[in-house]
Amino acid sequence: MSILVVGGAGYIGSHTVRALLDRGEDVLVLDDLSEGHRAAVPASVPLLEIDLLDRAATLAALSEHKPEAVFHFAASCYVGESVTDPGKYFRNNFVATLNLLDGMVQGGSKRFIFSSTCATYGEPPSLPITEDMPKEPVNPYGRTKLFCEQAFADYEVAHGIQSVSLRYFNAAGAHPSGELGEDHEPETHLIPLVLQVALGQREDIKIFGSDYDTPDGTCIRDYIHIVDLAEAHILGLEGLRGGRISRAAFNLGNEEGHSVRQVIDMARKVTGHAIPAVETERRAGDPPRLVGSSALAREVLGWKPRYGDLLSILETAWKWHREHPRGYGENTAKNG
Ligand code: UFG
Repeated sequence: MSILVVGGAGYIGSHTVRALLDRGEDVLVLDDLSEGHRAAVPASVPLLEIDLLDRAATLAALSEHKPEAVFHFAASCYVGESVTDPGKYFRNNFVATLNLLDGMVQGGSKRFIFSSTCATYGEPPSLPITEDMPKEPVNPYGRTKLFCEQAFADYEVAHGIQSVSLRYFNAAGAHPSGELGEDHEPETHLIPLVLQVALGQREDIKIFGSDYDTPDGTCIRDYIHIVDLAEAHILGLEGLRGGRISRAAFNLGNEEGHSVRQVIDMARKVTGHAIPAVETERRAGDPPRLVGSSALAREVLGWKPRYGDLLSILETAWKWHREHPRGYGENTAKNG
C-alpha cells in the first residue's frame, strides 16, 4: 500500500517524499501545484494534480488509491495574509483538511500525519514551549491549524483515524545534496531572503523591529532543519504503525533561539558577503521569542535532530540558493 503525501511538491513535503523513498516506501503525491513545484517531485512518483477544495475529486482520489497513510503538508502559511484574508485560510487549511479526512473515511485510510505549527500556542507564558501549554493562537493561521488538530480527535472517535500532529518551529535549510530546497513566491522568510541578498538579488535585508525586549532587540526564533523535520514525520508514521501513539502532538524545534541579527551575522560568515541590513518597523503579529521544547518528540518518537545547529541550516540553504538562484525555475545555475 502506498503513502499519500499531500503537498508533496512543496518545501517540507518534497523533503519528506525524499525521506520516504530513501526508506523504500511506495509514495504518491497529491498537490495542486499552486505553490508547489513539479520539479520537486521525482519522475518516478505519481503526481495527482488535485485541489483539495474540489471535494468530489479529493474523495475520488482517496477512494481509488486507499493509501495506508496520509501525510498532509498542503496549506496556506503566511501569518500576515491570514489576518487580512481569513476566509482563504479557513478554506485552504481547515475545509480542505476536512475534505481529505472525509476522503480517508471513504477509502478506509487510518493513519494521518499532520503539519501543524507553533502558531497554535500564540504568545506562550514561558519558554521553552511545551505541548501542554495553552493553545491560544493570535492569528487566523494558527487558529486554522488548531481547528484541524481538534477535528482529528473527533475523527478518531467516529472513524478510527489515528493522527499525529507535528508543531514546527521555524523550518529552514535544504537537502544536503543541493537537489531540494526552499522556493516560495513571494518569499517572506528570513533565511532565504538573507541569502538572496548575498546572491545580489536584493539590496538589503530589512530587520523587522530592533526594540524588542531581547538581548539584541530583534526577534528570537527556533530554527529547525528541514531534513530533521522530514525524519520526525517518518518516526510519526512508525509510531502510528506500531500502535505506540495516536491523537498525539509533538513540538519540533531545537530548543535554542537565534535572533534576527544572529542569523544575519552567521549568514555573512557562511556566504562571505557583507549582507547590508536595514532596521525597520516591527512586522505585525510577530511574537518576540518562540523557542520550543522537543523533549516529548525525543522521548516518545526517538527523534534525534542531525542538523541541530544554525550553521548546518545556513550552509545547506546556501548550497541550494547558490546552485539554484531561481529556485525550481528553469533558469538555474546548474541547468542553465
Ligand atoms: N524577519 C525580518 N526580516 C525579514 C523577514 C523576517 O526581520 O525580511 C524576521 C521576522 O520578523 C521574524 C524572524 O525574522 O522575527 C523570522 O521570520 P520568518 O518570516 O522567517 O518566520 P516566522 O517566525 O514569521 O514564521 C514561522 C513559520 C510560519 C509560522 C510562524 C509561526 O514560517 O509558517 O513561524 O509563528 F506560522
